[in-house]
Amino acid sequence: MNIPDLKKARKRTNNKIETKYSLYCLNDFQKKIGLSKKYFVKTYGCQMNEHDSENIKAILEEMGYTQTADMEKANLIILNTCAIRENAHNKVFGLLGRIKHMKQTKDVVVGFGGCMAQEEVIVNEIMKKYKWIDFVFGTHNIYYIPNLIEKAKTKQEIEVYSVEGDVIENIPVKRDSKYKAWVNIMYGCDKFCTYCIVPYTRGKQRSRLPKNIIAEVNNLVMSGYKEVTLLGQNVNAYGKDLDINYTMSNLLEDIAKTGIERIRFVTSHPWDFNDNMIDTISKYKNIMPYIHLPLQSGSSKILKLMGRRYTKEQYIELFDKLKKKIPNVAITTDIIVGFPNETDEDFQDTLDVVNKCKFDGAFTFVFSPRIGTPACKMIDTIDLKKKEERLQILNNLVNQYSKENNDKYLNKVVSVLLEDYSSKNSSYLKGYTDTMKLVNVKADKKYLGQIVDVKITSVKTWSMDGEIIN
Ligand code: 5AD
Ligand code: SF4
Repeated sequence: MNIPDLKKARKRTNNKIETKYSLYCLNDFQKKIGLSKKYFVKTYGCQMNEHDSENIKAILEEMGYTQTADMEKANLIILNTCAIRENAHNKVFGLLGRIKHMKQTKDVVVGFGGCMAQEEVIVNEIMKKYKWIDFVFGTHNIYYIPNLIEKAKTKQEIEVYSVEGDVIENIPVKRDSKYKAWVNIMYGCDKFCTYCIVPYTRGKQRSRLPKNIIAEVNNLVMSGYKEVTLLGQNVNAYGKDLDINYTMSNLLEDIAKTGIERIRFVTSHPWDFNDNMIDTISKYKNIMPYIHLPLQSGSSKILKLMGRRYTKEQYIELFDKLKKKIPNVAITTDIIVGFPNETDEDFQDTLDVVNKCKFDGAFTFVFSPRIGTPACKMIDTIDLKKKEERLQILNNLVNQYSKENNDKYLNKVVSVLLEDYSSKNSSYLKGYTDTMKLVNVKADKKYLGQIVDVKITSVKTWSMDGEIIN
């Protein structure tokens, strides 16, 4: 048994831990455990978690399990959880209530994993109050799930490493889409923004070796994939831990040369966004002109308290440079309101930056204290009502700019990768422009998986409608 320890996780910045690169494999017994059984995986949180679930599903299928979309029919339920804000926690505990009920009437194995499993408080609670959960696995222990299922028959099994930072290659993947794929380029984060739990739950920054990433993208091209999204908490810092003088801009260039039609990457940190990267993005047509560039706050005072390592002015300078050098670039952002000590003037600074940058879109959040992070200990004097008011004001502004940016697309022709049926109307297909705008297109299903030219016929705040032109 290995249980998580946030203090241990935090110490890793002082002790340099070697990254171990190893391969995943299953034994013959494990390959039969799931025969004639069904699994159900519920995923919360970011794209990194979605992609981890694609790995979990493939591992389970190698064990003989088949997928079911109906939790009640499952013999094995796995929750892949998120720890970034309190409401993510609440949703998971809500579902656990239902599963407990189910377990009273049916023999079902329950696994609890992801970022919440990396938190000591949560695992302690599971050991005390949720003894019926069969096994717990951390974000570093996905490859170990077969062993946990095997061992969990007799007692609750917990395998959560706090400091280990391995890179395991060859983990199988069951991709949700046939046309676009997520590709991890790195794991973990070393930035330690003071509000953020990720550096503790996901471990130190570990870049995958370039040759393994490029091989994965080449395989995707050969299998007919049109788009890859390179994933990392902080992709611009890719390679810094490798000591081989190879950076994100080198990687982007090598991925562009594979010939894949569309390349995206998330998430960027303004701190590591250098000129080489900007030049590479503007040089290659298959690197999409879309950047998610979290601002977090427009107040330099709050940015300092957040440990973000840039000022309001530096953010705006980078923003202007991106707009100038990358033709037609769309930029979205993340913003937190109600960080401890945020005054009305600080909040006004955030609104000023939004008014200046007129973002294509923004994810907005109320600050949520995460146990074990430095910001959790800061004295929070702002009441919830005030925080919610600020969020509302910010959202109205963000939506206004989102609509204004979309309005510019009316009657224009854009290229769209049609990836699925529209959720609203099945005679429509949906897809994204190169700038990551959602478009619903009236089109026959034969166009699924194709990049087509679409004329935009109407525009809303979060999506557009269009028709295919020849
Ligand atoms: N409270 C509120 N928002 C947070 N985020 C991360 N941690 C917190 C927190 N403790 C937001 C940041 C980040 C996004 C993924 O979630 O804006 O960029
Ligand atoms: Fe969290 Fe900051 Fe790392 Fe992003 S860069 S994952 S906000 S610590």
